[in-house]
Amino acid sequence: MSASLPASRPIGVFDSGVGGLSILKALQQQLPDENFVYLADSTYAPYGERDEAFVLERARECLQLLNRQHAIKALVIACNTATALAIHVLRQENPELPIFGVEPAIKPAAAGSRTRKVGVLATTATLQSAKFQDLLHSLETTGTEFVLQACEGLADAIEQQWQPADQATVHALCSQYLAHMGSFGTEAGQIDTLVLGCTHYPFAASELQSLTGESVRLLEPGAPVARRMQQVLQDKGLSNGSAGGQLQLLATGETRNLEQAVLHWLSMRQQVLRV
Ligand code: DGL
Repeated sequence: MSASLPASRPIGVFDSGVGGLSILKALQQQLPDENFVYLADSTYAPYGERDEAFVLERARECLQLLNRQHAIKALVIACNTATALAIHVLRQENPELPIFGVEPAIKPAAAGSRTRKVGVLATTATLQSAKFQDLLHSLETTGTEFVLQACEGLADAIEQQWQPADQATVHALCSQYLAHMGSFGTEAGQIDTLVLGCTHYPFAASELQSLTGESVRLLEPGAPVARRMQQVLQDKGLSNGSAGGQLQLLATGETRNLEQAVLHWLSMRQQVLRV
C-alpha cells in the first residue's frame, strides 16, 4: 500500500449536480466498505451546454477541492461530459491519483443490439467531444447504426424533478427527444437498445422505458465502473479493509436538489454541506 494514500481515505465522486448519484449508488453496492465524498458542482450546473475550457476548469476545481479538504485516494468523474472534456488533462496533471470516468456505453450496446440500431441520449458537449467521436469511429466496423440525440434541458429538469412542475418537464422532454429518434422495438429497422449517456438520465429511466416499451434495453455505466474501480483498488492495495461505508455530501451552491435526490434515490436523509 502506498504510504501517501492510505486505504481508509475516501473516494471522491463529482458531477455537475445530482446525476452522479446514479454512479455513486453502483459504487456503494459494489464497495460497501469504502468511504465516499460526493460533490455536486451545483453553482456551475449544467455542464452539458458549456464549452470545453469551462468544463475543464470546473473539473480541475472539483478535484482540487476534494483533494484539499478530504485527501481522497481516488476520483470518479461521475459525469459523461466532464469525462469527455477533462479526464485526459486531469490524469496528466495528477499522475499519482487513480481517476475513473464514465462514457456512454455504446460498445456494449453495439455488441448486444440485434437490430443493429442503437439510440444514444447525451448532452451536446458529450456528443460533440473528440473522445466520443473517436469511440464512435472505433465501432464503425460493427455495422451498427447509432442514432444520436442531444437532450438540451433534460439534465436540468431531472436535477429538480422533486418539484411537480419539473416532473412534467422531464416527461415532456423525454417524449419529445425520443420522438425525434424514430421507432423503438425489436423489429428490423427499430432501435432495440438505448444508451443513457448522461449520468442524470438513469433518474428518468422509468419515464424513458414507458415511452420505448419494455422490449428496449436501457444501458447505463454505473455497474461496470464500480467493478473496474474494485479491481484497481485491489491491485494497488488501496481497498478499505476495515468497515467504512461513510458518505459525505457537498455542493458548491444550492444544496436542496442534492438533499432531495439522495432521499429519493438512495433512501438516505442526509445533510449537504455547502463548500
Ligand atoms: N451528468 C452529466 C453527464 O453525465 C452532465 C449533466 C449536465 O450538467 O449537463 O454528462
